[in-house]
Amino acid sequence: MTSTMEQQRQRAEGDFERFTARVNALVERHPVVTDNRYCTWFAQGQASAAQVKDLLVQFSVFSNLFIVAQLLKTINAPSLAQSRQSCEILVNELGVIFNGTRASGIDHDAAGDPALVATEGTVDGGTYRFGARHFEWLLRVGESVGLGFDDLGKRRHGTEATLFFCDELARIYGSDDPDLAEGASYAVEHWAAAGFWKQLIAGLEAYKAQQCPSLRLSFFTWHDRVEANHAAHTDDELAEAFVRPGFDEERFCLGATEMLHAVEVFWNGLDTNRVTLGGAHHG
Ligand SMILES: [Fe+2]
Repeated sequence: MTSTMEQQRQRAEGDFERFTARVNALVERHPVVTDNRYCTWFAQGQASAAQVKDLLVQFSVFSNLFIVAQLLKTINAPSLAQSRQSCEILVNELGVIFNGTRASGIDHDAAGDPALVATEGTVDGGTYRFGARHFEWLLRVGESVGLGFDDLGKRRHGTEATLFFCDELARIYGSDDPDLAEGASYAVEHWAAAGFWKQLIAGLEAYKAQQCPSLRLSFFTWHDRVEANHAAHTDDELAEAFVRPGFDEERFCLGATEMLHAVEVFWNGLDTNRVTLGGAHHG
């Protein structure tokens, strides 16, 4: 009896190792994670004003429509704990400040400034500020390059590639099939933690230094700090998904694959635009 149980345990461990290796090969070695052409180019700091604007507009559409996908994920979460985790991200996007510590000693939450508000903690008991909506942070980035409220964040501002990505997020990341959704979620978090925020920050810092001293980067630096916290949690999620009754590995991998494809379409869309908009630097 005991030896049978031991054998089962060993088999389960072996299965998990094989599953982890498979997901690893699929997600962590995906070209959009390891070698994002657009972001590599952007980080070189040669983007023109038109190219920076294009990034901000397309990113604002993704950022706003992501809220729709995050709401669906919250509604469709397979457990109360997961619906709360999902809700943390949702309402933080919408302006509830994490109840953590940063810049302690002053009323750092007052204006919801992303340069000052916490990137850790919980929204439970947190303060709501209109100014802490991530979209409003992006509006402030837009201001310094001449983009206003009417230029940002709406579906009508998205290219076909951007809208494909947003619609796939709602369909897969927000799916009511928990295996598909978790595969997508795992993929999205790995992509987000792989360094694209740093690449965008590097490019924007160069643009700021060269021609736009008033540019505010804190929307980007805040998200970069958050990703560092998120990355640590993703492997736990993999283990949790694997032991959920009825877990379907194929659906998980399908969700991850399709989601990464959509991420890639988004960045390739920007890459195509920057060539069209580009001057001398196509490198
Ligand atoms: Fe955000």
